[in-house]
Amino acid sequence: MIVTLDGPAGAGKSSAARALAARLGWWYMDTGAMYRAVALAALDRGVPLTDGGLLATLAESLTIEFRDGRVLVDGHDVSETIRTEWVTVATRPVADEPRVREVMKHLQRRLAAGRDVVTEGRDQGSVVFPGADLKVYLTACAEERARRRHREELARGSTASLADVLAAQNRRDDGDRGRPVGAMRPADDAVLLETDGLSPEEVLDRLVLLVAEHRP
Ligand code: C5P
Repeated sequence: MIVTLDGPAGAGKSSAARALAARLGWWYMDTGAMYRAVALAALDRGVPLTDGGLLATLAESLTIEFRDGRVLVDGHDVSETIRTEWVTVATRPVADEPRVREVMKHLQRRLAAGRDVVTEGRDQGSVVFPGADLKVYLTACAEERARRRHREELARGSTASLADVLAAQNRRDDGDRGRPVGAMRPADDAVLLETDGLSPEEVLDRLVLLVAEHRP
């Protein structure tokens, strides 16, 4: 069975997808990490972020694996490096490139084949797994998402204000929604789950119920 979890940054997607996969004993695929991995490899190897053809060739040449909750690229653990700000910024042009998205789509389908999977991203239900048994679009209002992100950033020692975090989030949302290929949007048959005011446990409970209802 395939469950897709899409939605904007800060809606609690990653924790929800991870927790759901753990609860069900299924595989968890973090597709944002895959785009980040390509961006990191491009930075490391000096591939220009403006050259879509070269980025796609690079994406095709990489071995991206998930092992024990870690992300490996060509056997190297990049789990922490892909979360750094310089990689986050470089991921944008990489994820905007249709040829890279095409490579990622096929890789994601190959990785999920024959498994019970919770896959998380922006386009998993709308583009990559249109036949998924359950598609969830997880969201929350912009202010709530920014408040959560701001709390996390403060805990990491950041001094950014809530207004800064909200402005950066709005820019990211606009970019995600405006992408010509693979734009963030709910699939037509997605279940919308608004997480405003819900605790992570409540979100998980709802997801578990949805999975039970949608089992083939
Ligand atoms: O979710 P995360 O922040 O790790 O995503 C990293 C980047 O990859 C974001 O810019 C996001 O728009 C992009 N992405 C994407 N398609 C996906 C998952 C992530 O374009 N399926």
